[in-house]
Amino acid sequence: MTPTLLILTSGGDSPGMNAAVWAVCQRLEGTAWRVLGARAGFAGLLSADFMSLSAASAVRHARHGGTFLGTSRDPAFAAKIPEALRALKAADVTHVLVLGGNGSLRGAAALAAAGATVVGLPATIDNDVAGSDDSLGFDSATGFGLQVLDNLRDTAESLPRLCALETLGGDTGFLAQRIGRSGGASVILVPERKTSIARLETTLRAAIALHGYGLIVASEGVPQLELKLAQLEQRLGSRLRFARPSHAMRGGPPSAHDRNLAVDFAQVAVNALKTTSSGAVVWRGGKAKLLDFAALAFKKQLEPIR
Ligand code: F6P
Repeated sequence: MTPTLLILTSGGDSPGMNAAVWAVCQRLEGTAWRVLGARAGFAGLLSADFMSLSAASAVRHARHGGTFLGTSRDPAFAAKIPEALRALKAADVTHVLVLGGNGSLRGAAALAAAGATVVGLPATIDNDVAGSDDSLGFDSATGFGLQVLDNLRDTAESLPRLCALETLGGDTGFLAQRIGRSGGASVILVPERKTSIARLETTLRAAIALHGYGLIVASEGVPQLELKLAQLEQRLGSRLRFARPSHAMRGGPPSAHDRNLAVDFAQVAVNALKTTSSGAVVWRGGKAKLLDFAALAFKKQLEPIR
């Protein structure tokens, strides 16, 4: 039977997904493998909505953000495993590759537990996949966020005033922390840590005393963020302007780092698929490796800022 790989991208799109799809096709080019792509994630798998893929058809998307395969969210996918297995069998699919964040990789793990050969790749700007130090899209979204923060600094310094940038990140603060730390924010707010308004006020007062202005980076998951910012504006008696780039953080071309990560991930993924091994490819200790899906079952902890 011809080995047939079905690739799908699932959950929130992230820059680097297309690069990884291309890199996998590239590695299988000239072999006996047939490569298919499912349209719109697990939904396309269930409805057998597939397209043929090749390195030549995928390469033109590799440098672009989003996912040319399309994506969807289906929190109930784990309950549809028998249907999924039937769809794979009917299309003679022998192996599956899933690119996505935590929810998507849980779906991949459920499919593997039911007997399919499935490999997962962390692809989310949130970088919250347990067991992996990095994920496709994290560096690209950080770069975009840094640019916004740098632009805010120009204007905050000139007027001067307080500026706050809200990042995506769901209920985690990995992205906000990376942007705030590398961009030199006065204050970084993440859902994982509680900070009192009084303490924030003190830190911002010190920043204003030193620079004349203050910069705040906050993850969208911080409870009552807008209320907190309004309180700070009032306490400090300084105008605070709030920037919310929202989903613009998730788009745009993948960075060189993410494109390179896609190639590293693809290499390990294809080796795993060729040996019919299931699991998640993660970035750990400076290299890509395959872990059992069980390693992803805990919540990734945000390290304190050093
Ligand atoms: O994919 C992760 C993410 O971008 C989070 O950062 C964000 O909270 C969420 O997806 C947004 O989801 P949606 O695209 O469904 O609005």
